[in-house]
Amino acid sequence: MSTATSTATAATATDADGDAILTVRGVRRAFGGIVAVDVERLDIRRGAITAIIGPNGAGKTTLFNLLTGFDRPDAGAWALEGRALEGLPPHRIARLGMVRTFQLTRSLGRLTVLENMAVAAQTQPGERLERALLRWSWRAEERRVAERARELLDRFGIAHMAREQAGTLSGGQRKLLEMARALMTEPRIVMLDEPTAGVNPALTQSLLDHMRALNEQGMTIVFVEHDMDVVMGISDRVVVLAEGRVLTEGRPEEVVADERVIEAYLGRARAPAETPAEDGDA
Ligand SMILES: Nc1ncnc2c1ncn2[C@@H]1O[C@H](COP(=O)(O)OP(=O)(O)OP(=O)(O)O)[C@@H](O)[C@H]1O
Ligand SMILES: [Mg+2]
Repeated sequence: MSTATSTATAATATDADGDAILTVRGVRRAFGGIVAVDVERLDIRRGAITAIIGPNGAGKTTLFNLLTGFDRPDAGAWALEGRALEGLPPHRIARLGMVRTFQLTRSLGRLTVLENMAVAAQTQPGERLERALLRWSWRAEERRVAERARELLDRFGIAHMAREQAGTLSGGQRKLLEMARALMTEPRIVMLDEPTAGVNPALTQSLLDHMRALNEQGMTIVFVEHDMDVVMGISDRVVVLAEGRVLTEGRPEEVVADERVIEAYLGRARAPAETPAEDGDA
């Protein structure tokens, strides 16, 4: 979208090349003394499947939280198709076309599966439920929302659970519900935080098939993943985070051959000047 230069506040995040859907510039978040995220520049390619990898604590989840409005950065700018997103709450960002799922599923256990879907049509989990339910007018939107919910539940193979409380779903089914729910707002980009974590191999395969199918329909997918076989099998691009920074970015084959990546996983990639005194644990 080369015409999207009218939003002055997005200027710093809109100088990407034409095929980036999401642009991130100078996004930084510290917790006390720990810099969890310090991403100078990151462009997410439109229509691609991008894996975000990196050791535990690298800042992957924090980055997702920041970009989707669940947390506020200390500094930085980011834009979705040229539209600045700084300061917007999750439901506004969702309506602009970007949604996320959570590393730990957040389905509302006491609501039915179908109700979970309906709530997601208007909001993102983490918002106050009452507000979400209020905004979801049964009369006005019930039919349209219910129809889309049914379609998605069907697609993800959990339609038979529609009337059950979400709390009765298995862990894997809950992951499917998370993904189905994320699609209620018809996003153009989804951010999946460890979609396959704790999911059995058969269901993992099914989740990956869903990701591929969504991508083939034009959806941009960003996902956090620890399993390198999954990463190598499905991603077009891989971004490596280490200690909050983008260590490298590229095609999967390029990235795994990068020595710095191996070092980061072995915990030897620290910039000595920034490392607080460590007691020898060798
Ligand atoms: N709310 C918080 N308060 C304090 N520190 C936090 C908070 N959230 C994250 N952190 C810290 O920020 C760093 C990055 O955490 P984050 O959860 O983003 O990592 P991650 O890459 O998602 O790790 P994992 O692979 O284990 O999920 C860690 O040092 C973590 O302890
Ligand atoms: Mg995480």
